[in-house]
Amino acid sequence: MKAIVQEGYGAPERVLKLGEVDRPSVGDDDVLIRVRATSVNTPDWITVAGVPYILRLQSGLRRPSTPVRGTDVAGVVEAVGRNVTDLQPGDEVFGSSWAGTLANRAGAFAEFTVAPASQLIKKPAGLTFEEAAASVMSGLTALIAMRDVGGVGPGTRVLINGASGGVGTFAVQIAKALGGEVTGVCSTRNLELVRSLGADHVIDYTEEDFTRSEQRYDVILDNVMNHPPSATARVLTPTGMLIPNSIGNTGGLFAGLPRAARAILMGRGSTDVQTVTCVVNRQNLDALATLLESGDVKVVIDKVYPLGEAANAVAHMLGHHARGKVAIAV
Ligand SMILES: NC(=O)c1ccc[n+]([C@@H]2O[C@H](COP(=O)([O-])OP(=O)(O)OC[C@H]3O[C@@H](n4cnc5c(N)ncnc54)[C@H](OP(=O)(O)O)[C@@H]3O)[C@@H](O)[C@H]2O)c1
Repeated sequence: MKAIVQEGYGAPERVLKLGEVDRPSVGDDDVLIRVRATSVNTPDWITVAGVPYILRLQSGLRRPSTPVRGTDVAGVVEAVGRNVTDLQPGDEVFGSSWAGTLANRAGAFAEFTVAPASQLIKKPAGLTFEEAAASVMSGLTALIAMRDVGGVGPGTRVLINGASGGVGTFAVQIAKALGGEVTGVCSTRNLELVRSLGADHVIDYTEEDFTRSEQRYDVILDNVMNHPPSATARVLTPTGMLIPNSIGNTGGLFAGLPRAARAILMGRGSTDVQTVTCVVNRQNLDALATLLESGDVKVVIDKVYPLGEAANAVAHMLGHHARGKVAIAV
């Protein structure tokens, strides 16, 4: 089958090539999917870039131990493992092969991929394959951050830093759907987009530093970590919660790593600091699908690239100014 094969670490255009690989094998609990769309997430570009080097201990020293990137998937079931009884060939599904590590088992930047059946559900008919695929990791992370970690409910004052990106566009809409009063932080060109997603207030970070504001927030989801966590925590209410959700995507790769570490240390003191982990399971996918089907949440896609241009898709995300998601159509 055709797939985008990662030949080493470095710039996407240098290390990602269209090639031929074997179809992945299907375990008893797995589903083989004919991929129709996938999308780019942080673990993909981190594994392509291969920095910081320490991450290579997990992904593979000279090149990733699994050569195909991509975990989000939407497509058509081709075959199922013998324990899978509720999905069958021909079903349109979406979900993820994310296993919580950078060396994912089978990538979705390919004609076929496998994922555990427990991480797939039927695709809502009203969603395109691109929308469904693009919703998975970003949408679930935002859902878990707002609903479970942040406990957002009616009247919760929520600030989303990085409101116009993949996670941010979902977080703004999900926080609104939960009843929160939402402030989105983004650059000038994205103010209208973030407003259109339902944000009650928008802050243009090129004009105003939200950490110096007189406003106070119950929950801050920080997808950028471009401020010291102590500065961000200053605008929390006394019982407010900081959710650091970035190892830094500005100021150079991983410039924010020390900040993320400081935020976690700060959480041992009087500030409530909680991290978020993307958990892919059917319950969470169903909740996300319900939000998408109801129209409360829409998937913002900046650009769809064909599979052969996956390197450009990854480079687009590495620029850290994608408006919503970067998708790949197969
Ligand atoms: N916890 C988990 O399981 C999990 C899962 C997925 C992702 N994440 C994390 O979530 C973070 C966000 O991911 P993403 O997919 O949303 O990334 P993304 O799409 O690349 O985010 C881009 C966002 O960053 C903003 N931004 C860029 N430069 C900025 C600056 N100097 N100041 C303020 N904002 C700036 C952009 O706004 P403008 O374009 O308007 O500048 C845009 O809103 C990542 O760091 C990732 O590691 C965590």
